[in-house]
Amino acid sequence: MSIPREKWGTKLGFILAASGSAVGIGNIWKYPHMAGQNGGAAFTLIYLICIFVVGLSIVIGEFALGRKTQLSPVGAYLTIAPKSLWKWVGFLGVASAYVILSFYGVVGGWIMNYAFLSMKGDFELLSGNPEASSQLFNAFITSTWSPLFWQLLFMFICIYVIVNGVKGGIEKWSKIMMPTIIIILIVLAVRGLSLPNGLSALTFLFKPKFADLSASAIVLALGHSFFTLSLGMGTMITYGSYLKKNENLLSSALWVIGLDTLIALIAGVAIFSTVFALGADPAEGAGLIFVVLPSVFPEIPGGQIWGTLFFLILFMAALTSAISILEVVTAYFIDQKGWSRSRATIVFGGTITIVGVFCSLSLGDNLNITWFLGMSFFDFMDYLSSKYMLPIGGMLMAIFILKTWSVEEFLREVYVGMDSKKISSQLVTILLSIGALVIAFIILNEIVEKLFGSPIIG
Ligand code: PFF
Repeated sequence: MSIPREKWGTKLGFILAASGSAVGIGNIWKYPHMAGQNGGAAFTLIYLICIFVVGLSIVIGEFALGRKTQLSPVGAYLTIAPKSLWKWVGFLGVASAYVILSFYGVVGGWIMNYAFLSMKGDFELLSGNPEASSQLFNAFITSTWSPLFWQLLFMFICIYVIVNGVKGGIEKWSKIMMPTIIIILIVLAVRGLSLPNGLSALTFLFKPKFADLSASAIVLALGHSFFTLSLGMGTMITYGSYLKKNENLLSSALWVIGLDTLIALIAGVAIFSTVFALGADPAEGAGLIFVVLPSVFPEIPGGQIWGTLFFLILFMAALTSAISILEVVTAYFIDQKGWSRSRATIVFGGTITIVGVFCSLSLGDNLNITWFLGMSFFDFMDYLSSKYMLPIGGMLMAIFILKTWSVEEFLREVYVGMDSKKISSQLVTILLSIGALVIAFIILNEIVEKLFGSPIIG
């Protein structure tokens, strides 16, 4: 048990790994279609407020708890509050990892298949024909073997990266993939803006239309700020536990949040400029990526290359997030059960993949599991994690700092590695309290909607 804890090689490596966790399907798929359907810039504004008011303090909270204890969530809570119930918040994180990665791995597989289809030139057949594109997508995700093949491949790559360790696997690959994502995304955005009418994307994304902003969009933006920053399940606690004591947690958190937001916005520009140039519907919703884009890429010169590059970076973004989710489970078995890294990763990566197989099959007719609140098992896992598990985990984390760890002790840890030690503890208390209350309200709103058919707001 005396093996020294693995550590990030450099601060840059840590920032790229943590922002790799944050930047994922949520930024490139979920954010653009949510903004597209909810008033463009008005949604973005609310999203930014949520990220900076609620998200920032919880990101720093997770980093600090991990670095202080040098342990993943269960051990971290146990160290600060032994013999208390707080360890269950850690277990909730491990359970959330299971739930999220099961469907995330399936979507990761879809993305790989789409990169492959684009590379082969198969989008040509869909040119200017979103109906054909929609049929292809539906036929693919409801089929049995093809999505499973791609999901297994995606999960295999994910397991491979983690088996190679914190520095030699997660950090090494994040350092390659994150800069690649940023560069290609900028190229795609510039390319999109240079298309005729492409500039309308900027007006759409950055000029607020408050009339289109409903109360439910505000709730959506709050929920999404958790998902996009990978908060509420201990990912950032786990990544923080591999930090050396001399890193500045505040600046690291600002980098991670800044990169996450910037990448979501650039993805929005890249996608909407293409959509507007080709006269497609920006409010298409979840089908924006898998239905609209494959039908518009072939219409632009060099579309085969642009389409392939787009799905390639989406794959990288999904992979860097998926590895951070699996690392939460792996780290628990290493820290608390003394397992080796490869054994923990292979056993639990394998079992999560099996749950994912059921997610994938639930979309077809073979396994019609609709008894989970009337939705498919796939949708249920997404719903359960983003509407309940992550917000509850984040809220309890905020309460843990306020009530058990104490804001003073928390700030003492934050100050390690910082030159200025002037963060107001009142401000931290206010931000964490607002965070916890707002999240409690969202969860209540959701429960009221499920029980009585209409939410308190929304
Ligand atoms: N932040 C990721 C995204 O935006 O796609 C999703 C995610 C990763 C959620 C890791 C939670 C997590 F622990």
